[in-house]
Amino acid sequence: MSVEQRENMPVHYSAQIYDRFTNGFLGRFDDLLLLRVRQEVRSNPGGRRFLDAGCGTGRFLLRLASMPEFNQLDFIGLDYFEDMLHVTRENIQKEMFCHRIRVVHGDMHQLPFVDGSLDFIASRSTLHHLADPSAALIEVRRCLAPGGVALIHEVRRDADPRALEIFNRLRSQAGVEESRSEEKYTTEEIRHFVQKADLKGEVVVLAPVSGYASLGCEIRIAVPR
Ligand SMILES: C[S@@+](CC[C@H](N)C(=O)[O-])C[C@H]1O[C@@H](n2cnc3c(N)ncnc32)[C@H](O)[C@@H]1O
Repeated sequence: MSVEQRENMPVHYSAQIYDRFTNGFLGRFDDLLLLRVRQEVRSNPGGRRFLDAGCGTGRFLLRLASMPEFNQLDFIGLDYFEDMLHVTRENIQKEMFCHRIRVVHGDMHQLPFVDGSLDFIASRSTLHHLADPSAALIEVRRCLAPGGVALIHEVRRDADPRALEIFNRLRSQAGVEESRSEEKYTTEEIRHFVQKADLKGEVVVLAPVSGYASLGCEIRIAVPR
């Protein structure tokens, strides 16, 4: 599927099924992003404003908000599709985190935040849903404050088959179809989006070759202080 053919794409199943998958089955993969968030938050202890862009049903944010080590953060969950936002709001209400997590409708191509207004942005498995990943990377950079960091994690088409097998096993346990490799990007394609966004020296792409992290890659955008 080429970039030109894409529009903002919803997930292929209902927000309720997606919620079950992200709530019960993603543990080891959540841990990877959590570890990276923890490292970045510790390196920028004055940072307060945290956005999960393309937050799905809000499960990752709820996990962060429940951890005392992130008590200083104000969380925002943004998504483009109303069904995801609806379930996110329900989850936040059920878990009684309305005071910690604000839910916002928005498009990663045009984020509803002023320049430099966010300290941390995380976004997982969103790039392949976007009509123009480079434009979204530019938007993410625009919203970061001095010292701010964005972590964008994306499953790769050229993922290590062993990591993909574990991922698909977890999906099958959740009653979710196998990951659609054909809609994902290779590391080279992801590097191309990054290059096109022209973020100068502020961006690094990491694509591990083994372990769980070899399922995908990380685009790290860091704005100098
Ligand atoms: C595969 S899900 C990942 C959800 C969550 N980040 C996670 O890791 O569980 C992709 C998410 O991106 C959202 N999305 C798709 N296009 C978007 C856009 N243009 N702006 C914001 N969110 C978008 C979808 O609604 C969906 O919630």
